[in-house]
Amino acid sequence: MPESRTFEIRTFGCQMNEHDSERLAGLFVARGLRPVGAGDVADVVVFNTCTIRENADLKLYSALGHLKAEKARRPDLQIAVGGCMAQKDQDRILERAPWVDVVFGTHNLAEAPRLLERSREEGPLVDIWPAPDPDAARDMAPALYAVRESDFAAWMTIQTGCDNTCAYCIVPSVRGGEISRPLDDLVNEARLLAARGVTEITVLGQNVNSYGRDLTGRSPLFAQLLRRLGDVDGLERVRFTSPHPKDLREDTIAAMAETPNVCPQLHLPLQSGSDRVLAAMRRGYTAERYLARLSAARAAIDDLHVTTDIIVGFPGETEDDFRRTLDVVAEAEYDSAYPFQFSPREGTRAAHYVEEFVPAEVVRERFLRLKDVLDRSALRHHEAREGRLEEVLVEGPSRTNDAVFSGRTRQGKLVHFDPSPTLKAGSLVDVRITHGAPYHLRGTLESVRRGPRHKTRLTVLAS
Ligand code: 5AD
Ligand code: SF4
Repeated sequence: MPESRTFEIRTFGCQMNEHDSERLAGLFVARGLRPVGAGDVADVVVFNTCTIRENADLKLYSALGHLKAEKARRPDLQIAVGGCMAQKDQDRILERAPWVDVVFGTHNLAEAPRLLERSREEGPLVDIWPAPDPDAARDMAPALYAVRESDFAAWMTIQTGCDNTCAYCIVPSVRGGEISRPLDDLVNEARLLAARGVTEITVLGQNVNSYGRDLTGRSPLFAQLLRRLGDVDGLERVRFTSPHPKDLREDTIAAMAETPNVCPQLHLPLQSGSDRVLAAMRRGYTAERYLARLSAARAAIDDLHVTTDIIVGFPGETEDDFRRTLDVVAEAEYDSAYPFQFSPREGTRAAHYVEEFVPAEVVRERFLRLKDVLDRSALRHHEAREGRLEEVLVEGPSRTNDAVFSGRTRQGKLVHFDPSPTLKAGSLVDVRITHGAPYHLRGTLESVRRGPRHKTRLTVLAS
């Protein structure tokens, strides 16, 4: 029998993109391909791209440039580009890199293996669907066959697209409107994952708390989903990202508070603390309403860990607007936060506000000021955890340092601790926190609650 062809998926961007890559890997494996070994170049290389990060363009074309000579040497090599950037740039990718074989978009990811096979006969192909096919978007088969990076922590996409119209954001135009997957399918998927030994599921969507609105035609079903996931045997941790502050309702907060396996963690993107800027961004809330929702969540959920995204330098942002962001940051007491410098995205409303663009050096200066405040607040929160005993799901040796083990607390905090020769990834342990650093905690292993629940390894995804 001939050796099967190998594949490699290189992912840029967010968790949703990473999970799309896991699903795509599953489709390749189902068609008889196998993941490439470390250090080799595969027979099929797929780039799953992102449009949020400006440097994704640069990164993609430089990676494609590196493969040009390889392709000349090995005409059998196939290269595909998919994801958000492909959806946005369409034909331009083949114009700039004619040695690419297949370009596919965000809505026909599942078609990529078939397109690559067709292209072996027909030559280069661009196939981008202008809009999602709701049935394909709701199909759960690709998730069931996904080749996952972790055996004990899994992502689950509950919804694709976004119905909002934030002025800076490209997502609605590349991912389309909201399409929710059926509630029973999600609960089944969670059950299957838990039965295979998955301990933790992170629920993904652009606007998770409006999940189900398109299914019912009225109210969202997110709170119901959380409660149903609460009944899944063996599932010990449920997280989600991201909710929209304007849709964070009482029923979601109550479901979080009353469902023991839902982790005390809330990523609530603020974007700006100025009402004027929030209105220009079309966010649908004021700073006061945002803070009210946050304090309702904090009041209901014990030891809630709160994180956020903030954009500085949105067109028209004045020093006074920026100070309001600092005021909200001071009041919200974030455990950690991701600051971004505004950058115009072609095809968004804000890209046209050229006359109001804030000079780059002002944006940079505000970004650094904000980052300083956020880092100090994160450090304070981490130091406050010194001496506590935290339940940690062990990930194994740290990515950056083999001599250290890492894992996550229930709140999602990264913890480093000394390796223990018998301790396996997927175990649940208690770690005494000894030191809070700006981006992680350090601690000592106190006891092992249980070993890993998964019996066989699922992981084959190369990165
Ligand atoms: N410029 C800067 N940051 C952006 N984000 C989204 N679009 C832009 C943009 N055009 C940030 C938002 C969002 C996060 C994922 O990326 O803060 O929450
Ligand atoms: Fe994810 Fe948004 Fe980037 Fe698309 S554009 S990959 S949805 S972060």
